[in-house]
Amino acid sequence: MTSDRQQAAGRRTAVLRREAVLATVPVAVAALLGAAGPAAAGTNGSAGVGDPYYRLAGNGGYHVHHYGLTLRYDTTTRRLDGTAVLTARATQRLTRFDLDLKGLKVTRVTVDGAAAGVRRDGQELVVTPHRALHKGQDFRVRVAYHGTPKPVTDPDGSSDGWIPTDDGAFVAGEPQGAMSWFPANNHPKDKSSYDFTITVPKGRTAVANGVFMGQHTAHGQTTFRWQQTQPMAAYLATATVGKFKVEQYTTRDGIRVYNAVDPREASAAAPVLKKLPSVLEWESKLFGPYPFRAAGSIVDRAPDVGFALETQSRPLYDSAPDLATLVHENAHQWFGDSVSLTTWKDIWLNEGFATYAEWLYSEQHGGPSAQKTFDTLYARPAHDGLWAYPPGNPGNGANLFGTPVYARGAMTLHELRRAVGDQAFFRILRGWATAHRDDHGTTAQFVKLAERESGKDLDGLFRTWLYTSGKPNRV
Ligand code: ARG
Ligand code: ZN
Repeated sequence: MTSDRQQAAGRRTAVLRREAVLATVPVAVAALLGAAGPAAAGTNGSAGVGDPYYRLAGNGGYHVHHYGLTLRYDTTTRRLDGTAVLTARATQRLTRFDLDLKGLKVTRVTVDGAAAGVRRDGQELVVTPHRALHKGQDFRVRVAYHGTPKPVTDPDGSSDGWIPTDDGAFVAGEPQGAMSWFPANNHPKDKSSYDFTITVPKGRTAVANGVFMGQHTAHGQTTFRWQQTQPMAAYLATATVGKFKVEQYTTRDGIRVYNAVDPREASAAAPVLKKLPSVLEWESKLFGPYPFRAAGSIVDRAPDVGFALETQSRPLYDSAPDLATLVHENAHQWFGDSVSLTTWKDIWLNEGFATYAEWLYSEQHGGPSAQKTFDTLYARPAHDGLWAYPPGNPGNGANLFGTPVYARGAMTLHELRRAVGDQAFFRILRGWATAHRDDHGTTAQFVKLAERESGKDLDGLFRTWLYTSGKPNRV
């Protein structure tokens, strides 16, 4: 069941693949230089966390516990005014550290209340605190900024980040876009809690992550407050603004649901959104308890976007989703959001799992079985794009959201299921979500967990399905 969303991602990927391959060599060289360069200098935080796909993503030398984001967005002029207060801990001595921020004008930076030196260098916001921070020190960075946010263009040609719409903004940061609207340690390796205070013109609604904490209107402006207490990767943060119809309720399991729907999408979205509680219940049965306190949906009308995103606790859709997409984005709450990547290369741990959730949903709700879906895909000829690269090693950022990651990633899980049997397989899925809840995971850890739960040597299976080029032979 390869959806249009995945097909679109696959098409974009195919077009861009040639350029991406050419870009690989300088990136690899730069990564090597990076490892021996700034990071080794000792007291400067490095400009990236060392992700080979996005060399400058995230920053070394500190961990952010909490982001307090206070934003004001003028939907007419498209000007954003922001104050970000980051509470962080130095993981090394720091005379200097970086944040990621692209575009926008920074007017003032303080560290623990004292003015700090600040310099812009591409996406790096280089901060020099007035006094060096010692290893283990907790500190607070305040950044005041404003401007017209511009989306980030990804290596696959799609835009992400702060994307203006006709009535507000569609805000989706995977993989790079968080830095288009707030200063961040922009890599999933660093997860933090968030508070949002967002002011928009009266009549518009600002929807972020986590629990809705209330709203108030004064002088023609409405302020919305949101709180995400559980750790979240920066790319999963949203502050989507628009004219929305809002629906709120609490599920039988005590999850606070907030659905915001563009009225133009409402009639198409209604029958699908109605199924959200039963989808979450079904997923909880399969994957373990729902990982967050809040849930919901943001259904926007953003015709130029071309994807949905599993924004934490409340997926964001560029138009009324179909049921498979709803199942997919909510499955990400376990796989991708609660259990996060440590490196973008492992993206199949997100997309393969969310896609396999679609197959399982179909199988258990009167649609084609996962086996049938697998067989249909496997029938594709060796030259098909599905086999263009192995999902465990996409090679570069342009391939992150391509068909091999989604479909062959899901096929990998199906082969695992066939090899270990249903009992062990579902124990593995649930064990993975439980063991790494609110944390991170790697492919190597997943393989180890699968072997432990099944008592089988699965090295060959994963090597074939995740890492070997070309169409795998079935055993
Ligand atoms: N993770 C999203 C999904 O559920 C896809 C995001 C695609 N983003 C992009 N910049 N191409 O499948
Ligand atoms: Zn996905």
